[in-house]
Amino acid sequence: MTLVLGIETSCDETAAAVVADDRRILSNVVLSQIEDHRAFGGVVPEIAARAHVSALDGLIRRALDEAGLALSAVDGIAATAGPGLIGGVIVGLVTAKALCAAAAKPLLAVNHLEGHALTPRLVSGMAFPYLLLLVSGGHCQLLVVAGVGRYRRLGTTIDDAIGEAFDKTAKLLDLGFPGGPAVERAAARGDAGRFSLPRPLAGRPGCDFSFSGLKTALRERAAALPQPLAAQDRADLAASFQDVVGALVIERTERAMGLSGKMPLVVAGGVAANGALRRRLEALAAQHGVPFVAPPPALCTDNGAMIAWAGLERLQLGLVDPLDVAPRARWPLDPLAAAPGAKA
Ligand code: KG4
Ligand code: ZN
Repeated sequence: MTLVLGIETSCDETAAAVVADDRRILSNVVLSQIEDHRAFGGVVPEIAARAHVSALDGLIRRALDEAGLALSAVDGIAATAGPGLIGGVIVGLVTAKALCAAAAKPLLAVNHLEGHALTPRLVSGMAFPYLLLLVSGGHCQLLVVAGVGRYRRLGTTIDDAIGEAFDKTAKLLDLGFPGGPAVERAAARGDAGRFSLPRPLAGRPGCDFSFSGLKTALRERAAALPQPLAAQDRADLAASFQDVVGALVIERTERAMGLSGKMPLVVAGGVAANGALRRRLEALAAQHGVPFVAPPPALCTDNGAMIAWAGLERLQLGLVDPLDVAPRARWPLDPLAAAPGAKA
């Protein structure tokens, strides 16, 4: 049996977990920093890094205790080495290096996006290849996942990430922080047909996304209404936003399905926790006769189990890292596709 400890500190969750090669999650401890950032309406990198420093050692202790293991019992230690907020990434990676040095364990420097990308294999044993829609706070990409470390990017956002669009919408409509779940809750009470919003890039060739025009249109629709906005107006705007984002994602994903050839469809990343989006993707996959996998919401948002699992897959292939491996703020999964102007 192979056991890996995973550490995640790239954004505003401090997380540690232990997973086994038979896909069991022995522990998965996540400490959200939401309260630390709420007053600022967004994640403040310096506050995040300090919060990781103060919480991480206790969290690793808890993850090992809940798994019933001593550090000496794990076969490797994985940590997010990027992409993400660099202060936080450094905290997690340096901690992992220190533990590896002290306990003589191999280090696995994991790309955070690979953690999201391989989660479907932890959840359901999904075989390669599959088409991945990666939708998170920092990204919106369509990728063919051909194997560990083998990614072909078909499309990405040319401006905002999808989670960022949800978060900005929540801020604009004063729905609270974090934005994604707040927009989803408001949208459930709203009329998606009340406001017509533009669909940036819809119908255009390729699989790239754009969300910034949508944000501007939403601000204009909101400004034209009586102020302060009534609860129903905010719910209707949230519903219209979520609906048009869903339509865009479906259109782009269907295009990617045409390019990739028939393969299972997988969604991952924090925005994959959105129920409305999951239902639309499930219907799309059914329509094309391909399997659909969406990890449970707790494994869509950032967590240590996904990092431990990606580390475990790398360890099994002998892809261990030296102790001087550098943290990276940017780190595209498919370096060949890093187009100028596009987010990594
Ligand atoms: O993957 P993740 O936890 O962190 C990153 O790697 O970015 O994703 C966080 C993003 C945030 O933008 C958050 O608002 C969004 O995921 N999110 C959601 C929902 N839950 C989280 N967006 C829409 N609907 C949700 N239910
Ligand atoms: Zn993430």
